[in-house]
Amino acid sequence: MSPNKPMSNNPKTYALALHGGAGPVAGRNYDVVEAHLEKLARECETLLSAGRSALDVVEIAVAELEACGLYVAGRGSAANTAGYVELDASIMDGTTRMAGGVAAIRDFVHPVRVARGVMEKTSHVLLAGSGAAAFARSHGYEEVSDPENYYTVPVGVTAEEMRDSHAHGTVGAVALDQSGAMAAATSTGGTFGKLEGRVGDTPLIGPGTWCDDHVAISCTGTGEHIIRAGGAVSIACA
Ligand code: GLY
Repeated sequence: MSPNKPMSNNPKTYALALHGGAGPVAGRNYDVVEAHLEKLARECETLLSAGRSALDVVEIAVAELEACGLYVAGRGSAANTAGYVELDASIMDGTTRMAGGVAAIRDFVHPVRVARGVMEKTSHVLLAGSGAAAFARSHGYEEVSDPENYYTVPVGVTAEEMRDSHAHGTVGAVALDQSGAMAAATSTGGTFGKLEGRVGDTPLIGPGTWCDDHVAISCTGTGEHIIRAGGAVSIACA
């Protein structure tokens, strides 16, 4: 998302974009997903029109996309080849350039909220693996109490795709609030069939998520390609 005119001249302007992942499959029915995204967009619009910050709104939007199980993020994530789910997420505030991410974290309901915690409660930008989980636990972020039964297959994804393909999905939100501030957030369960410890673009500030005072970007696609291409920040600099 990139506004066309300076927001300081138009203080009542706000904007939002959500995504539920790249790679639509021809012939697949996306009615449930589209209805969910539309409802969520309207809820976020209500928040932005009431003056809520872009940072809050992208966190709220991505947290819902993680928890609903419809997308390959949060609850809809698939296990890696070692048999368990690892999650990546990040968030960035365009006004301050503060940012946070978590990589390969296990069994937290809202990785994006932990990413915001990394941004606001630590001096770091990225925490990974058991260290990210220890941080999240120490700050009381909601954990998945029953991982065996929590994770679910996202809408329309076949068991064959989850087993055999390098298919993927990611969720993201970018927002512009009435003060002219922008924010971006992204979350994913990564690619199907990924190796234990594999980290894609999503938790990385620069490739997967970027926000400054001109542009807010949340990437989706195969992370290895996005990282090699430079991803979001290369778009911001173009
Ligand atoms: N873009 C998400 C991933 O590759 O993990």
